[in-house]
Amino acid sequence: MAQLWGGRFTKETDQMVYQFNASISFDKRFYAQDIRGSIAHVMMLAKQGILTEEEQRKMISGLEGILRDIEDGSLAISEKYEDIHSFVEATLIERIGEPGKKLHTGRSRNDQVALDMKLYIRDEVYATDHLLKELLEVLLGIMEEHIDTFMPGFTHLQKAQPITLAHHMGAYFEMFKRDRARMKDVYRRMNYCPLGSGALAGTTYPLDREYTAELLGFAGATWNSMDSVADRDYLIEFLAALSTVMMHLSRFSEEVIIWNSNEYQFVEIDDAYSTGSSIMPQKKNPDIAELVRGKTGRVYGALMSLLVTMKGLPLAYNKDMQEDKELAFDAIDTAKGCLMLFTDMLRTMRFQKEQMERSAKNGFTNATDAADYLVGHGVAFRDAHGIVGQLVLSCIEKGISLEEMSLEEYQRISPVFQEDIYDAISLKTCVEKRKTFGAPGREAMEQVISLQKRYLSQS
Ligand code: ARG
Repeated sequence: MAQLWGGRFTKETDQMVYQFNASISFDKRFYAQDIRGSIAHVMMLAKQGILTEEEQRKMISGLEGILRDIEDGSLAISEKYEDIHSFVEATLIERIGEPGKKLHTGRSRNDQVALDMKLYIRDEVYATDHLLKELLEVLLGIMEEHIDTFMPGFTHLQKAQPITLAHHMGAYFEMFKRDRARMKDVYRRMNYCPLGSGALAGTTYPLDREYTAELLGFAGATWNSMDSVADRDYLIEFLAALSTVMMHLSRFSEEVIIWNSNEYQFVEIDDAYSTGSSIMPQKKNPDIAELVRGKTGRVYGALMSLLVTMKGLPLAYNKDMQEDKELAFDAIDTAKGCLMLFTDMLRTMRFQKEQMERSAKNGFTNATDAADYLVGHGVAFRDAHGIVGQLVLSCIEKGISLEEMSLEEYQRISPVFQEDIYDAISLKTCVEKRKTFGAPGREAMEQVISLQKRYLSQS
């Protein structure tokens, strides 16, 4: 046991209590942020004349030495300390003596942990955004390559209208683009420095909080010292944004699983990203996609846990808030791992163009276009809908597609049909004709692809 307090205690802490209370096993993860925050704090204390130049020099070189030694493995973070803050402070005192004892001047672990967590999360928001960008780059590559790859678009998982693979991927592009915007938003709102808020009521030392904030790359200092140590909104927002990323990845995974099935065969997952069965030799399972779908629940769970943890807390700091760390770290590791693996799986996945096109043909996805053909020849849409419904029924009875039906049969149901119906319902025409901005037609798609390219080059 090694703790920072003890003066007013007459008994040693019970060993079990100590273990229950300690956080070093998980907060050691942000040792670098803790040291970085301490260095900024020392610089500010010196600027304000609270520390001498000499003390500042010794303390900063001591802190830098601790960071270097942890990083190169020569200094192990000992779990006999209660938390990472105590470990760093005690190590500094051990290494430089008296000046080390001044490190905690005008500071509490409450504002210190608030700072460390913010610094850590800020980096993770940035890293997540980067991973999302990589995924978008892979998506854009597929979109460019498959602008003419026809496939069925679905509603209710029933074949609906023909689209292209580029268009389908474009839908996911939009989702992950919004996820990036959410990351930016979380970053912008959280980027205020809590250090200098003390335990809850500020300090009596003449701290320059704006200076510390500036040294640490924040947009400014937080405006209320109680809120500073009690706020975990930014973490809730980040976990909510990560949950949305996971929801998107999970929907995408679900489609990959369906597309990879024997019945669909729209895609083939690369051997490196699928797994076999111990008993059924023919199997090639989409485990990565299934795990991504499964792990989504875990990230939602972290969001729920933190919301519930926070809901009854009076101001300001309460130890309950220590619970934010393990669940946030797990959710962040999970979401980042999923993003990385999913992106690699997608990059190496093969799309079976012929099979997708065959499926679009066999599913009457051009039925709306056949009705539009009639409307173009003066038939009211409601009547056209009924006529094409009869056509579809007769195709189903014969086990053929609309393209395979003879002109005589078309004309038996409606004399309006002429030879050009075949061109009107070809997949190429059906897609080409959908030219509205945001639709799958080539021109519209090319326009969107160039906009997405510009977006990626600018953000
Ligand atoms: N380990 C604590 C946490 O994660 C650090 C702050 C401790 N403050 C305190 N007053 N005990 O929240």
